[in-house]
Amino acid sequence: MRRVYRRRMLEPTRARAWALLCEFTSTQPLRRHALSVEASMRALARRAGVTEPAELEAWGVVGLIHDFDYERFPSLDDHVWRGMEILRQRGWPERIVRAVGAHASYTGIAPEAPMERAIVAADELSGFVGACALVRPSRSVRDLPAASVLKKMKDKAFARSVDRGEIRRGAELVGMPLGELVALVIAAQVPVADALGVGGVAPPDLPDDPVPPVPPEPASD
Ligand SMILES: [Fe+2]
Repeated sequence: MRRVYRRRMLEPTRARAWALLCEFTSTQPLRRHALSVEASMRALARRAGVTEPAELEAWGVVGLIHDFDYERFPSLDDHVWRGMEILRQRGWPERIVRAVGAHASYTGIAPEAPMERAIVAADELSGFVGACALVRPSRSVRDLPAASVLKKMKDKAFARSVDRGEIRRGAELVGMPLGELVALVIAAQVPVADALGVGGVAPPDLPDDPVPPVPPEPASD
């Protein structure tokens, strides 16, 4: 009797995603960035009608690991390519690998699946919203109006490294007016603001263990 051997696909859980991120990333700001993009991804998943916990988790996992290889392989020739290779070697499902690859426009991997579109919408904007929160007197995202983020997007001198075109492309990809996407990302960051360092207090270090708690659903969601 012939047997067909298939490589076992690994279950893309948060715990595995956090372990992978921490294995490759010691920098606290990069770990916080991962958590903030996770929160945005879960909010985008809910907006896309995802209700099943495992699927919500999968969207969040893409947020957690999208930059996991960046600290070790920061050059454009390596970043994301090396990450995708490592994910495949370790048996991560191809749709997760593809979504990680699609988050960087220079890979030429066109964002098609809803999860792939969402990571483009979540990535740059989550960082930009954080930057906007930190220049408020409160240093908090909790009192950050969407209008202030939209205004800062037009201020070219502010947070120069953030690609505004990429933020707009993300909004188009998920079919949302920019203001609505900004409001969603702000709302997603609020419940995890303290851990992200945008809650008006210095953030605690995010250790390898324990895995940080799941970002709660925003109150207005
Ligand atoms: Fe990122």
